[in-house]
Amino acid sequence: MAVPEPVLTAARSARRVVVLTGAGMSAESGVPTFRDAQSGLWERYSPEELATPQAWRRDRPFVLAWYLWRFGLVSTVEPHAGHRAVAGWAGADGPEVAVVTQNVDDLHERAGSSEVVHLHGALADWRCEDCAQRYDGPLPSVAEGVDRVEPPRCGACGAAIRPGVVWFGEALPLGPWSEAVARVEDADLVLVVGTSGIVHPAAGLPAIARAAGAVVVEVNPVETEVSDVAHHVWRETAAVALPALVEAARLPER
Ligand code: OAD
Repeated sequence: MAVPEPVLTAARSARRVVVLTGAGMSAESGVPTFRDAQSGLWERYSPEELATPQAWRRDRPFVLAWYLWRFGLVSTVEPHAGHRAVAGWAGADGPEVAVVTQNVDDLHERAGSSEVVHLHGALADWRCEDCAQRYDGPLPSVAEGVDRVEPPRCGACGAAIRPGVVWFGEALPLGPWSEAVARVEDADLVLVVGTSGIVHPAAGLPAIARAAGAVVVEVNPVETEVSDVAHHVWRETAAVALPALVEAARLPER
């Protein structure tokens, strides 16, 4: 796998790297992206119909079943070599590496990344829809084909427990957003991996990074809404490109 020369040069000299990831980062682990056709029971629904406060209020058991299905799917898949390459890059003499992800799965953490900012929340974070108290109690199991599950109730106020993810139309959690901006403004290299660049404000981070002086590199098999913001585009997949980049960046210059 030949790493594009300008990308390798930037990676070799980088001291502070931010890897900005979207659903394409999880694709090679077996998690469908948002813009891919959904699989099985959910193929006739689009995330925009399910991942909204309106859908939740209209039919909590239906939306909960979808999230439990995704939660179950993520728990059965493994991080791939790209996740592991990002997690191992920092190392002894490597750069500082932070992950800023739109994904709600925990594949980066399971691969060993310690600095992971979740812009859109996390599947594993369940909370009360009213008092927002975190819920760590038992979750109903979702057998194959089940498309409605009654939500557990909050121990403090009795309201329904909801997924701790950001739905369309909801504000991003302020802490992660301001940390993401600070990280990309301070970075000297930002890899934009596996995102279509459609959903804002996350999609605005590459432009913020570029304006602050970072080298911006897109790793994506196809063109996206943010390709024109990148200094370099690398039409490759995450599980192929990232291990090749990290390995080459570590080698002494020839
Ligand atoms: P999308 O599904 O919109 O885009 C996935 C991107 O990954 C596409 O550009 C694909 O070309 C690319 N891709 C697919 N396979 C890849 C691979 N193996 N390696 C690298 N890239 C690959 O997912 P996101 O951009 O993450 O928001 O979507 C952004 C947000 O929209 C999500 O966080 C979610 C969704 O609605 C909320 O839930 C609020």
